[in-house]
Formats: sequence, structure tokens, C-alpha cells
Amino acid sequence: MNIQSIFENNSNWIAEKLQLDPNYFKKLSQGQSPEYLYIGCSDSRVTAEDLMGVQPGEVFIHRNIANMVVSIDLNAMSVLNYAVRHLKVNHIIVCGHYACGGVKAAMQSADLGILNPWLRNIRDVYRLHKDELNTIKDENKRYDRLVELNVQEQCVNLIKTAAVQSAHKERGLMVHGWVFDIHTGKLIDLKIDFKKILADIMEIYRID
Ligand code: CO
Repeated sequence: MNIQSIFENNSNWIAEKLQLDPNYFKKLSQGQSPEYLYIGCSDSRVTAEDLMGVQPGEVFIHRNIANMVVSIDLNAMSVLNYAVRHLKVNHIIVCGHYACGGVKAAMQSADLGILNPWLRNIRDVYRLHKDELNTIKDENKRYDRLVELNVQEQCVNLIKTAAVQSAHKERGLMVHGWVFDIHTGKLIDLKIDFKKILADIMEIYRID
């Protein structure tokens, strides 16, 4: 795909939208009130809107390497706070994916420079679940399981924040953990038990 084709595609896309609704962009420019915040991987194969079949305006999106929620990441925390406190989303989705390069890198011994501290957060997930992961002899299955556990732990990281705790109390905001199976295209709900995790961690992490 060359740059020129991208601009041609854009013209075609505009024409398609205007054919369906001549006021499409006028309406779009008037504001957003998405119901969902999606936190996913930057991987070029995991295109958030496409795989969910959603339209512009429906989902507020944040993507980074391996769909991480790190408490001192000003970017992720700004997105979270804006989505929850201002846009008032009612659902937050953390979506990982099998064959995630970030998760794979965290399973290997390699000095990746500036990426080291980022990937260390995934190594921490491994350490937290070492007993379970080390019982899985098949390396591919262990890799898949770490992808799932990483999603789970990033959901926990969300639940530790004041924004999520207060929005849950105030209007029942929920956190969901999903995995995109890149081998089949299927979206899998890990059925994270939000209420149980919240109850478990509140002893230590209660803010609101
Ligand atoms: Co990835």
C-alpha cells in the first residue's frame, strides 16, 4: 500500500459515508459520547474497530505495546481519566491477542534497550503467576496463557485506579478482559470476575 493509495481510499470512504448520510461528517463533528474505552495492543494486525465491527464515535481507543495499564504511564492514565470522568464510558475493555510480540519478548532473555522497563511489567505478570505457567510444558500454550494472564492483570491495574473505583460505585462501570485469537479472528471473553477482583483488592487498594 503506497501513500497515494491511502489518500484515494480516504476519498472513497468519504463518498461512501456521504452516500449513506449526507450529514455524516456534520454529525460526527458535533461531539462524541462513546460507551466503551478499549485498551489494546499496537500490533498492526489487531485493528480495534474492524474486529469489533464498530463505527466512528462508538469506542474511545488507547493502544500500546502489549495492551498495558501502567500506573505511572501519563498517556494511558490521561486516556483512562478522560474516558471515565469526562466521556463517562460505562465499559472498559482490555484486549490482548495471541502471538503478541510484546509478550513473546518478555518471555525471552534479550536486552531490548528502552523497551526493557516496559516489558518488565509483563515479566512481573509472569512472576506473579509463575507456579501456574511453569506447569505448562508446551511453550506455545504457556505463551497463550501468559497473554491471557497479562490481560487479567491489566484489568486488575485498572481496578486499582480511583477513576474506575469511583465510577463503579457511582454508575456501575465494568471492566472486561478479552483476547483476540489471531489464528481464527475470534474475540474471546475471558470473563474476568470484576466484582470478585474488586472485593479482593479493596483491602489494600481502596482509594475511593
Ligand atoms: Co501485541
